[in-house]
Amino acid sequence: MTAVPADGWSRALVVLAQSADLGVRDIAALSARVAYAFMCLTLCWGVLTTTGWARRLGERKTLRGGHLALAAFTLSFAVVHALCFLFLSTDPFDVAKLVIPLLPGTLARHTAGIVGLELMLAVALTAGLHRWTAYRRWLWLHRLAYPAVGLGVLHSLFGALANGHLSLVWLAGITLLVPAATLGVLRFLPTRTLERIGLVEERV
Ligand code: HEM
Repeated sequence: MTAVPADGWSRALVVLAQSADLGVRDIAALSARVAYAFMCLTLCWGVLTTTGWARRLGERKTLRGGHLALAAFTLSFAVVHALCFLFLSTDPFDVAKLVIPLLPGTLARHTAGIVGLELMLAVALTAGLHRWTAYRRWLWLHRLAYPAVGLGVLHSLFGALANGHLSLVWLAGITLLVPAATLGVLRFLPTRTLERIGLVEERV
């Protein structure tokens, strides 16, 4: 048998570990893209439900159920995506790095993902509180979903860029983002402006 130099073995081991990680990284990227799609759809459906713009599609209870289901899918895929990084054999995340933003050495794009996901979880966990608290107070809490989605989008953009996947996913990413961003902006426009541009009718 030919002798392999020690550094040759370690290089071979690193290559082996990196190829073992390919499957985990693929699952992380796939679940991330599905989470991104559901995140944009959840925001759209939430605005359509709360404003009554989707009234013709069904009863309010059914529409709200759809919004909840989309939110649950977003969180499930986002959590699977984040957990994948615990199982890498080269440079794995530990639990602290996965849940604590701004740890020394944590990249800004990862912090955006961590804070975004934690805000989304907080919004989901407090969603049922509207029965016990004033609607206005609950609404402020629930509106944390908007910055959460913003951080999710920033993280996704820079994450795909870092993975070298941006050229593959940008078109689908923008296609999903445009309706979410448009509805998000419309939700914050004053009713008078919406009336002026003909999006809502004045009731007399
Ligand atoms: C604890 C939270 C999260 C962590 C630690 C995390 C970590 C990562 C990492 C390490 C990458 C690989 C590229 C890079 O180094 O940046 C990545 C990519 C990505 N992440 Fe996250 N992420 C989190 C939450 C989220 C959330 C909430 C979303 C969206 C709903 C998301 C969507 C994406 C997308 C779309 C990519 C690019 C996938 C591709 O290459 O196509 N992530 N993330």
